Amino acid sequence: MKAIIYTTYGSPDVLQFTDVEKPTPKAGEVLVKIMATAVNQADIHVLSGMLRYSTGVFKPKQPILGSDIAGIVEAVGENVTQFQVGDEVFGDLSGHGRGGFAEYVAAPASALALKPAALSFAQVAAVPMTALTALQGLRDRGNIQAGQQVLINGASGGVGSFAVQIAKAYGAEVTAVVSTGKIELVRTIGADHIIDYTQENFTQNGQCYDLIFDTVANHSVSDFKRALTPNGIFVTCAFLPALLILGPWLSMTGNQKMKNMLAKANQADLILLADLLKANKIIPVVDRCYPLSETSKALRYVKEGHAQGKVIIIWKRFGSA
Ligand SMILES: NC(=O)c1ccc[n+]([C@@H]2O[C@H](COP(=O)([O-])OP(=O)(O)OC[C@H]3O[C@@H](n4cnc5c(N)ncnc54)[C@H](OP(=O)(O)O)[C@@H]3O)[C@@H](O)[C@H]2O)c1
Repeated sequence: MKAIIYTTYGSPDVLQFTDVEKPTPKAGEVLVKIMATAVNQADIHVLSGMLRYSTGVFKPKQPILGSDIAGIVEAVGENVTQFQVGDEVFGDLSGHGRGGFAEYVAAPASALALKPAALSFAQVAAVPMTALTALQGLRDRGNIQAGQQVLINGASGGVGSFAVQIAKAYGAEVTAVVSTGKIELVRTIGADHIIDYTQENFTQNGQCYDLIFDTVANHSVSDFKRALTPNGIFVTCAFLPALLILGPWLSMTGNQKMKNMLAKANQADLILLADLLKANKIIPVVDRCYPLSETSKALRYVKEGHAQGKVIIIWKRFGSA
């Protein structure tokens, strides 16, 4: 089968489009014919070697990147009862060795959910990692409640565009922080208030929020803290090193909470996201699509950090992805 592989850490230039052996599903696994895969910032971090303590110290243990997949079940391994050949599925393989930048992947059935029929493979591939991050950041780390004032910093990217919609689905009043060119997008996906970060610094304007969900980490801990209400919660998925020490200390000494977060894929949350998709509570924002052979180009674009929603790798075997 065709795949995009990397045998050494580096920039997207080290990716190679080549032939590799088609996988066979083991017990508990499903062989998925991939129709679309999303590019995530995580693919760029892994490719760079930044996470080599878990992906292989000297060279990559698993040569195929790509976590977010949408496709069709082609075969099922022993003990798989949840899916059948022909089912349309989607999933997040970040905890299972990835493998999405390829024609096929053998994935644990527990990492997949049925794809909502009304959405395209490209739309559904946009969902898993970034929507799970937004969901778990707002619900589990942020304890989001209806009626709260919630600010999403970096609201136009992969995580942020889902965070705006999920916060609205929870009944919050949402302020989106974006650059000038993205104002129309966040208006369309439901933001109640919009701050153009090129014109206004939300940490300096005197407004306070019950919950700030950050995807950029572009302000100091004290600046983010200033924009919280006295009992407010700040959650960042973009990682603020200072919070490793300051976060627990601030939580012990005051009522505000300041947290880093790491999303963890699980089937129950994938199914919940599928339900939100079916109910049109979340609509994936797809910036652009590339063919598998142009994966390195797609990664270079995502690496720039200004995508509008998600960038997708598609297969056009059946006419449309
Ligand atoms: N912790 C986890 O589990 C987890 C999971 C997924 C992702 N992440 C991390 O979360 C971060 C965001 O991921 P993503 O997929 O959403 O990235 P992305 O799709 O590249 O989006 C980044 C967004 O940040 C915006 N931005 C850049 N500078 C900004 C600023 N000064 N103020 C406000 N917005 C700004 C960009 O919008 P403009 O073009 O308007 O600047 C862009 O929309 C990355 O660091 C990623 O590694 C963490």
